[in-house]
Amino acid sequence: MKERESFGSRLGFLLISAGCAIGLGNVWRFPYIVGKYGGAAFVLMYLIFLVIMGIPIMSMEFAVGRASRQSVATSFHKLEPAGSKWHWYSWFGMAGNYMLMMFYTTVGGWMLLYFVKMARGDFQELDAAGVQKAFDSLMAQPGLMLAFMVLVILLGMGVCALGLQNGVERITKVMMLCLLAILLVLAVRSVTLPGAGVGLEFYLKPDFVKLAQGADGAFSFSRLGEAIFAAMGQAFFTLSLGIGAMAIFGSYIGRERRLMGEALNVAILDTFVAVVVGLVIFPAAFHYGVNPGEGPSLIFVTLPNIFNEMPGGRVWGALFFVFMSFAAMSTVIAVFQNIITFPMDKLGWSRKKSVAVNTVAIFILSLPCLLGFNLWSAFQPLGEKSTVMDLEDFILSNNLLPLGSLVYLLFCVSKRGWGFENFLAEADQGKGLPFPRKLRWYFTWVLPFVVLFIFIMGYWQTFSAMLAA
Ligand code: PHE
Repeated sequence: MKERESFGSRLGFLLISAGCAIGLGNVWRFPYIVGKYGGAAFVLMYLIFLVIMGIPIMSMEFAVGRASRQSVATSFHKLEPAGSKWHWYSWFGMAGNYMLMMFYTTVGGWMLLYFVKMARGDFQELDAAGVQKAFDSLMAQPGLMLAFMVLVILLGMGVCALGLQNGVERITKVMMLCLLAILLVLAVRSVTLPGAGVGLEFYLKPDFVKLAQGADGAFSFSRLGEAIFAAMGQAFFTLSLGIGAMAIFGSYIGRERRLMGEALNVAILDTFVAVVVGLVIFPAAFHYGVNPGEGPSLIFVTLPNIFNEMPGGRVWGALFFVFMSFAAMSTVIAVFQNIITFPMDKLGWSRKKSVAVNTVAIFILSLPCLLGFNLWSAFQPLGEKSTVMDLEDFILSNNLLPLGSLVYLLFCVSKRGWGFENFLAEADQGKGLPFPRKLRWYFTWVLPFVVLFIFIMGYWQTFSAMLAA
């Protein structure tokens, strides 16, 4: 059998794992839900969930990948005790990776398109209503969206086709370093705007009363529950946990470093980007009088306004969307690497064949999301105004990610799975931060229930809101 590929450097491994984690979840989802749930208090909860749940589960994914030297397609087969059925999860893990790409390619396309529009100055003459209209008419034209979606797929697959070191590692490394640099420049620009203080206060000074305020301004338990759920969900999504999206990168590294330390590094980079994106958006939003609780449209409908009013806004805007595109593309490339590896690990396909077949497959699978905004907009699976994208996101974020994280967790702590001792032996090889062995009781008896809680809450929230509507 052919030798499995590996990364050229530790920096490559860290930046690619961070590239997979840093994506639309940071640059688009994070600011809008922070805005929705009243700012700093929410940020604090989200940070807590990253620590008590995200980082340990990421270490577990890396360990499963490194011990098995396989992607999720075959990793459980290798490590599970004889006769057990953990390997069934490989199908769900693979499905999750496809499901994410089914809507990510469309939103990634919007980012590229907005970069082009910003650079051309298309928004410059428009007022707020005009910017909104431009977004709506964009949604109504499947042709233009399709072209940019295809571009995302071809760029992503093109990079993967070059191979792990030559393509994925080399290109993602450059993109991630540029992204971090651009982001810092923008953050400095934003926090030095006049009036930035109010935005910074909203974003950085916790106000727990605001967190739990219902629509009428009174304290509301269900609102508090909703906010906690949203914070936990965001922690899962942003770290790419539960579908083996991270596990694969463990399969390309050696045993020089302990995995907890590496997971911590990735989580710090991911959090850094999310937090700095907030520094860009909130001061600017307050400065220009944009409501931060605007919702998912925060970026596409309000940012062009912000840049319109900013001196040199065309350049800043174009830069901002380059950065958004890099963040989205680094995730696309990472997940494509997973997707093309499944049949290579499972069926022994060549990379060429896998890239060719998956390019076509992803193209077809991406169509429903795109058409859901125009030709199929009458199909509203999750209530009024919902789209195919909402359904895909729901299946992924509310089902596959929490349940999948639970599978990895139980696999690593249960005697019927890989077991805590095996996991620990793998995770703690090399130098760096050791896994907290003393907290075994917590990982076995507390954390699984927290995850289960998220899952049940997710269902309860979505369907009770739907019934109330
Ligand atoms: N973490 C990615 C983002 O923030 C999304 C993702 C989720 C990627 C699950 C892989 C797996 O955009």
